[in-house]
Amino acid sequence: MTQHTDRDIADLRTRLATARKVCVLTGAGMSAESGIPTFRDAQTGYWSRFDPMQLASEAGFRADPRMVWDWYAERREGVRRAQPNAGHLALGAYAQRHPGRLTLVTQNVDDLHQRAGNGDTLRLHGDILLDRWLERCTHQPSLTDVSGAVPGRPPKCPHCGNLVRPGVVWFGEMLPDGAMEAAQQAAFECDVMLVVGTSGAVWPAAGLAQVAHEAGAHVAIVNPQPSEIDDQAHLCLRGTAAGVLPRVLDGV
Ligand code: APR
Repeated sequence: MTQHTDRDIADLRTRLATARKVCVLTGAGMSAESGIPTFRDAQTGYWSRFDPMQLASEAGFRADPRMVWDWYAERREGVRRAQPNAGHLALGAYAQRHPGRLTLVTQNVDDLHQRAGNGDTLRLHGDILLDRWLERCTHQPSLTDVSGAVPGRPPKCPHCGNLVRPGVVWFGEMLPDGAMEAAQQAAFECDVMLVVGTSGAVWPAAGLAQVAHEAGAHVAIVNPQPSEIDDQAHLCLRGTAAGVLPRVLDGV
């Protein structure tokens, strides 16, 4: 794993231009330049200001549904205000130029990849703009029927009091059915893997770089800082998603 030179960028561009299959894994750093905070960046990351177990776990939600609901409502507003950045747009344009070549796997719960043209993005950690029921209950009224809730309080089933919760994967929860299997398959089959804006701190997503590396793919990381999976990369591009991705993807 080395720091990058212009020759490295040129080599990566050639690989991306000729690859049969490309897999891209993104994390919160992908959306940082769109104004959405990351989780583990010092001072600015969510987890430097909030307790993840209190806000991103079922136990935390059950302990204080209103506080967790409010936090997600605030994050949802931020996602709705955010715009895809140059990195999202470069990935969307690449997918349009090479139909079927790119599998984009994200840990992010925003919709910026989809809005940038990667409609088939594999979401490992769910969708912050979706709601779901906390319990399986027999009534299950339509979520829109209960959405006109009291602001600041999670909507609830009028029959049994079942609460609505955000449609994201909380710590300790299973990933969406089939998502990780599809992501592993894409990592195994690809010729090139780009890993963008993730600390590599959360498994199983963090393991995808190793799957690709061991299957013989060329792995490049885009991150201004070192990550926990740098040892799986042939190349570390020390830069930001919006700064680096257009340089490696535009025109190939
Ligand atoms: N461009 C690229 N990378 C960036 C940028 C940027 N502009 N800004 C920050 N980064 C990098 C940071 O250096 C860090 O390595 O993005 C990474 C963000 O790491 P985390 O905050 O840990 O986010 P992520 O890796 O996506 O976390 C994984 O943890 O809390 C859970 O469910 C949550 O999906 C999330 C998972």
